[in-house]
Amino acid sequence: MTLRSRPVPEAALTGSLRDFRSPEGPDLIDRIAGFYDWQNLRREHNLWPYARSISTAPQAHCDAQSDTGEPFSGINFGSQDYLNLSSHPAVKAAAIDAINQFGVHSAGSAALLGNTSYSLQLEQAMSRFLGDREIVLYPTGWAAGYGAVQAIVRPNDHVILDILAHSCLQEGAKAATQNVHFHGHLNLEALARKLSRIREEDKNNGILVVTESLYSMHSDTPDLRAIRTLCDQFNAILLVDCAHDLGSVGDDGLGHLGLQNAMDAVDIIVGSFSKTLGSNGGFVAVKDKATSEYLKYFSASHTFSNALSPMQAASVLAALTIVRSEEGRALRRKLMDNIVYMRDALAKAGLEAMGNPSPIVPVRLGVEAVGRFASRNLMDLGGIANLVEYPAVPQGGSRFRFQVMASHTHEDIDQVVDILARAMREADLEYRLGHEGQSDERRARSIA
Ligand SMILES: Cc1ncc(COP(=O)(O)O)c(C=O)c1O
Repeated sequence: MTLRSRPVPEAALTGSLRDFRSPEGPDLIDRIAGFYDWQNLRREHNLWPYARSISTAPQAHCDAQSDTGEPFSGINFGSQDYLNLSSHPAVKAAAIDAINQFGVHSAGSAALLGNTSYSLQLEQAMSRFLGDREIVLYPTGWAAGYGAVQAIVRPNDHVILDILAHSCLQEGAKAATQNVHFHGHLNLEALARKLSRIREEDKNNGILVVTESLYSMHSDTPDLRAIRTLCDQFNAILLVDCAHDLGSVGDDGLGHLGLQNAMDAVDIIVGSFSKTLGSNGGFVAVKDKATSEYLKYFSASHTFSNALSPMQAASVLAALTIVRSEEGRALRRKLMDNIVYMRDALAKAGLEAMGNPSPIVPVRLGVEAVGRFASRNLMDLGGIANLVEYPAVPQGGSRFRFQVMASHTHEDIDQVVDILARAMREADLEYRLGHEGQSDERRARSIA
């Protein structure tokens, strides 16, 4: 009996990371072993699609390997490099120049001697891009989100977050205060109710309202100006994380902040360079120097972590120059053309793309078992996309997150949609047939 025709045990198709989040017992190491057992059961049946690595550049087609070293290759919709700037010749040349000049390391925190001429230029260029805001750089986008919230919120203050706000924002809030409140996703009435109740009970402490300009699991966006109005009504500060749409969406690349004419409406903008701007790194953009200087010394993930390497700062600087150029505009147009083409192709195949057009095209798979089968099948058939499951998304709402890049061709999209339809059809069949595992023969029949 081949591995693929072996029955898949129920335990490999159910459960989630959440089951292992709060282990109990006196031995801190012993008590976490259950996770590895569950993970291995999934791995044994090729149902663990995480921690894969690429062995070629993250282009539209790439070679990769699973976390057990099994090689695969395919049409790549699993990398976040929306305008393909990480492989752009000018960005690579800037990185090489920076290495020749500085070596590969910043060799210190930005609060000490870790800044380089490239990071200073990057601060200035980001400031110009974002309407003359004050910029603070962080080693990653995660560090920026975490650090911005943690720096300005104190234990008596309140943080209200959209239930789907990114982990960095939630963790920053939890580190800062126990007064962490969540409202339903994009539900402004619920936000208004929370604000009203908190202000009624507490007039003396601060309230930080936290949202994102593009939610990457749903591809949807809040009404930022309406949130601003609520913040004004209840004396709250507004923080918006624009990791996924800054640089990639809108004619000017300002994402939904630009599209909604909401740049001024936001007190604290948080962002990542790692989706569109070609390298790791993040930033916080605020309206005055007093706030940016405060962040530089009270935001732990900025102050107590090494600064962006010279190579990262130079790469982002070069990528930002392209983002703001005519070439950047053309790349965004190509990207949006691909996005619309893909959503149409999915609809023609009878599949639904969730949310609104953005570089992220989520496709719902449903219960976790179907998601896991579909993810395995997609990889086998030559498609690469990331599976997202509970608790990152609601239970029973597993999905693929296709990340579209400007360099995808319409043929790539047609092919991946075809592969996806097959992968889902097979997954559904396998699930309905009682998880018996698909032999190659049965797969051939179901595809035919
Ligand atoms: C909204 C949001 N904020 C922050 C991050 C983290 O960014 P980075 O990968 O640069 O740490 C991400 C990326 O997953 C994100 O989606």
